[in-house]
Amino acid sequence: MSTHREHGQHQHGQHQQSQHQHGQHDDGRHRHGAPAQGNGHGHDHGRTEIDWEVMAAHLERNAELQLPALRRAAARLRDRLGPDREVRRILDIGSGPGVMTCVLAETFPGAEAVAVDGAPGLLDRALARAERLGLTGRVAVRHAELPAGLAAADVDADGPGTADLLWSSRAVHHLGDQQGALGALTELLRPGGLLAVAEGGLPMRYLPRDIGIGRPGLQARLDAAQEHWYDRMRAELPGSVAVVEDWPAMLRNAGLADVGSFTTLVDLPAPLDGPAREFLLSHLTRLRGAADDLLDAEDLGTLDLLIDPAAPEGVLLRPDAFLLSAVTVFTGVRPSG
Ligand SMILES: C[S@@+](CC[C@H](N)C(=O)[O-])C[C@H]1O[C@@H](n2cnc3c(N)ncnc32)[C@H](O)[C@@H]1O
Repeated sequence: MSTHREHGQHQHGQHQQSQHQHGQHDDGRHRHGAPAQGNGHGHDHGRTEIDWEVMAAHLERNAELQLPALRRAAARLRDRLGPDREVRRILDIGSGPGVMTCVLAETFPGAEAVAVDGAPGLLDRALARAERLGLTGRVAVRHAELPAGLAAADVDADGPGTADLLWSSRAVHHLGDQQGALGALTELLRPGGLLAVAEGGLPMRYLPRDIGIGRPGLQARLDAAQEHWYDRMRAELPGSVAVVEDWPAMLRNAGLADVGSFTTLVDLPAPLDGPAREFLLSHLTRLRGAADDLLDAEDLGTLDLLIDPAAPEGVLLRPDAFLLSAVTVFTGVRPSG
């Protein structure tokens, strides 16, 4: 298999090189919008709408900062599957720019890894990344609008239920019916195959409680604003269904067995390097763009200073900014028979 984009009913061997199809994503079908958020929460149609294509560089930078944690997660999944399990096909659902798709291809050298996403520009990034890393022939991409595109024939050219490992990070929460989506993901697994959804953890931390400007405790108020926005986003998704977000229970309800979880830490201490500062700047800039009615004037002023590239108090220059986050991965196995 070569590094390729899979379209529609594409069969193995009919590889199509990456091609931008902007008509497919200018119609707003995969504009779900989200403000800056390290853990991916965020949106509003109008207020919470996300243009994933515009977020491409931000998503890739975010994932690259997490690379050591992503590699540890992939190793955990390899251990979880066990040495006797042959892993031939891996799907990364809502892959974004394919950083984890490539990590999974590296971790499972006998497998093809397929990045599945609704944003063609992100899939192009995934292909370019795979080529840069020498993974041509090991990584494929497939354009699919979810949840409809999860219908097995649309995602899996070989027919339903042929994935040995299915990874999905921060994508299920962008679908209206999260429980339904988990059920559909389970259907894509072979018996004994492993589903891993990265949907939990802790909100990202990046500033001390007192940053010397504005009222202390800004980080907690930003968390609250993001939770508010996240609520709006969930409520405004097409087909939005409220569910108790007990992920282990949701995985069991989807028919999975042997359900468990593990958590990986991203710990970048101060002083941050350039890429981490750039990530924080874009995170806070996106948050600022969505926060007008969620923060008071003083906090908005503090945010304005934090995202001022020339201000010594800004995140590009201040010495005390750090990055700390915890990502929880929930796992379950599709029972045999
Ligand atoms: C927060 S990003 C996560 C990207 C990557 N998995 C990561 O963890 O860095 C969510 C991804 O899901 C995709 N996505 C969201 N809603 C979608 C939908 N309805 N259909 C297809 N893809 C969707 C977006 O294009 C985006 O790449």
